[in-house]
Amino acid sequence: MVKVTVCGAAGGIGQPLSLLLKQSPRISHLSLYDIVNTPGVAADLSHINTQSKVTGHVGNEQLKEAIEGSDVVVIPAGVPRKPGMTRDDLFKINASIVRDLATAAAKYAPKAFMCIISNPVNSTVPIVAEVFKKHGVYDPRRIFGVTTLDIVRASTFIGGLIGAEPSTVACKVVGGHSGHTILPLISQVPGASGKLTPEQIEKVTNRIQFGGDEVVKAKNGAGSATLSMAYAGARFALNLVEAAFFGKSIVECTYVQLDADKQGAQDTKRVIGNELQYFSVPVALGPNGVESILPIGSLSSFEQSLFSKAVAELKGNIAKGTNFVAESK
Ligand code: NAI
Repeated sequence: MVKVTVCGAAGGIGQPLSLLLKQSPRISHLSLYDIVNTPGVAADLSHINTQSKVTGHVGNEQLKEAIEGSDVVVIPAGVPRKPGMTRDDLFKINASIVRDLATAAAKYAPKAFMCIISNPVNSTVPIVAEVFKKHGVYDPRRIFGVTTLDIVRASTFIGGLIGAEPSTVACKVVGGHSGHTILPLISQVPGASGKLTPEQIEKVTNRIQFGGDEVVKAKNGAGSATLSMAYAGARFALNLVEAAFFGKSIVECTYVQLDADKQGAQDTKRVIGNELQYFSVPVALGPNGVESILPIGSLSSFEQSLFSKAVAELKGNIAKGTNFVAESK
């Protein structure tokens, strides 16, 4: 029996994400929470002939019943970007939304695996961690920033360039989830670095880092990636369910606190230094969430130079999230 709650379920990401989760036979209860429209979304999805029960909960007074006893909580709640905005510009609004949802999870589902989609992920994950610490229920192995869309984009863009079927192209993407903090390790993709010139590598790296802007621009004020994000979010949540509850070994890159695995943290810090507490890394998922952090592997000199750019920005983003909770009443 696996209960998955989606917070922000009536939104641009929340609706298609919930649709994809409804297709899974692994979920027994799909709980949909939002401040608007979830009764309709839940009624609609509940007619799909898969086994999971679907419930809709709307507004703060129904948050407890929505989240209570959840095994997995997925959070795509908040506002998306408009043209010209960075993910960091969303902090003001989304920080308190994520803090309040994390507070409810810490109280009513303290063992849930938390999958954070709301931006800026670099800061919202530390917010959730700090809230859980405040409530004395923190386990760094159970809190994840969902960076899967960066990996999905990397496979698509690199696959297109080297003429490979995109889903077969596995590219680790580490670091954070915003512009220069997104670090695709193309030098480790079998068959890619030999086929691509340094100029092509630089260009496709930039496209992966700023792929979200392509969608924001094309949607022209109507939001950011929703459908590809729903696909990526469902992939991450369902992989987590498979690994945590059904014994499957799965590795995904995800933004976690490095202390989630002390040995893995040491290996990672040998590459990235000691300054960052959070980083997206390849993680072996299992019954406890993060079972181990796998090595980042060797970097090309180009990738090494990207790291230097990412560290200062990430450090500031992490401090912003951590301080926000410290300063909240
Ligand atoms: P949206 O505006 O379409 O949907 C957001 C939903 O959150 C709305 O239904 C809204 O009512 C709901 N909401 C607002 N306050 C809430 C609260 N306190 N509790 C529960 N629900 C609440 O936005 P969209 O496009 O679905 O994006 C959601 C978030 O996901 C944004 O922060 C966006 O930046 C982020 N995002 C993250 C990506 C990633 O790769 N991690 C990729 C794309 C977007």
